[in-house]
Amino acid sequence: MGLKRVWKGIVQGAEKAAQRIPAVQKRLEAEYAQVEQLVRSKMRPTIEWLPEFHALPEQGVAQAQILEWLRQLREHEAPPWQQGRVSGTVYHGGEEHSAFLSQVYALHAQSNPLHADLFPSTIRFEAEIVRMTAHLLRAPTTDDPDQQVVGTTTSGGTESILLAMKTYRDWARAEKGITEPEVVAPETAHPAFDKAAHLFCIKLIRTPVGDDFKANVEAMHRAITRRTIALVGSAPGYPHGVIDPIPQIAQLAKQYGLGMHVDACLGGFILPFIEELGYPVTPWDFRVDGVTSISVDPHKYGYTPKGLSVILYRGRRLRRYQYFTATDWQGGLYASPTLPGSRPGALSVAGWAAMVSIGKQGYLEATRQIMQTALTIRKGIEQIPELRLMGEPLFLIAFTSASEKVNIYQVLDQMAQHGWRLNALQRPAGLHLAVTIRHTQPGVAETFLNDLREAVAYVKAHPEAKGEMAPIYGMANSLPFRGVIDEVLRRYLDALYD
Ligand SMILES: Cc1ncc(COP(=O)(O)O)c(C=O)c1O
Repeated sequence: MGLKRVWKGIVQGAEKAAQRIPAVQKRLEAEYAQVEQLVRSKMRPTIEWLPEFHALPEQGVAQAQILEWLRQLREHEAPPWQQGRVSGTVYHGGEEHSAFLSQVYALHAQSNPLHADLFPSTIRFEAEIVRMTAHLLRAPTTDDPDQQVVGTTTSGGTESILLAMKTYRDWARAEKGITEPEVVAPETAHPAFDKAAHLFCIKLIRTPVGDDFKANVEAMHRAITRRTIALVGSAPGYPHGVIDPIPQIAQLAKQYGLGMHVDACLGGFILPFIEELGYPVTPWDFRVDGVTSISVDPHKYGYTPKGLSVILYRGRRLRRYQYFTATDWQGGLYASPTLPGSRPGALSVAGWAAMVSIGKQGYLEATRQIMQTALTIRKGIEQIPELRLMGEPLFLIAFTSASEKVNIYQVLDQMAQHGWRLNALQRPAGLHLAVTIRHTQPGVAETFLNDLREAVAYVKAHPEAKGEMAPIYGMANSLPFRGVIDEVLRRYLDALYD
């Protein structure tokens, strides 16, 4: 740890010094400009027929016109995900399902659960989403308030994770007097934990993972100090789709009296069905003694509209630390369970409607098809000698290059040429595809494998080809100067809104 910090300090010092050299500054500006140009052309393309508004139009635009614009945009933007060419992102996307959810949304479009007295049905639906999710995650049936699993709905995985971390911070401060809290998480855990650490003044200690990309429990053990408030594991982690050894991490947490958060944002709504279908799944839910909270996203494999996640706690007392109340405000008494104030209740109602309309058998069938497709893709990748799987995949398949002659980021670019949108991984370099219902359509897996074989063959034959994302990811993966990468990311965000 100490050596790592010293090395980081040296690299940061070298980076700062290098950036003061005019030639380096000039070179960097040129690189940044290239990235900005790429972002603008990709994310903010000029659409000739769509007027831009930089101020309110004097007179409102006709609704029919707006609907027409939006229909045209959808026609243009939907094919990649509709045809199953995108990793994750749109997990269901079936026309009938989407039309049903839109109808439900329209019926409750005015609902705001902040005003529980006006929209009691929304609150009831939210409570039922929490209960159905807790049941799915094998919450024990008990009258013991310390064992009961309770929670709230939130706007997404990131908010659920933020809230869990805030909860542990406030719990540890109140009940253990810890004022400089630390959380230990494997380096594969989602950046939402970094965000939480940043926002809530928690020190996040990242520990290495093994060759199988699973958390190294020994390293987590060594990272525990008197200030540690919680340990984290993922089920599965976003990068490689592998489940951390949750039982061992939970045992460690129990031994030291710590919180144990399982991030099942990605897997929470599919792993229970994978297990029921008979695939081996590492234990990760509330059956595991020592697990004290789980984040899980209905808006991924729960097939609800985007904007719905659930945070669950073992023990009613823990949830109390999540709440926010203001008793003295001149605007009245104020209490809110999560980060926002007003919330789009229609999203919760539509989420509830998705869960209730699909039902257990619907989820099982979707999972069966996803797993079959994932298996086909996995076997196909195993037969490409230039590629190698990363970890032991279930429904998310990560792979990398097994040949020095094949740059995996160039494969990413080539797949993009074929219309595929895969996710790039770094440190080590790789790609992944999160298989969704969209990929279970006939022929999609076969097309994917054909295109992948072609992409690999092309990259092997043209190692000099530059590509679009390959240089950027190549730089990000190898450059020790993280400040430069940070600046690239900030300029990317600027470019989105400018
Ligand atoms: C494992 C995991 N955790 C957390 C998140 C964050 O979820 P969201 O994007 O809904 O905030 C994701 C998103 O992909 C994820 O895969």
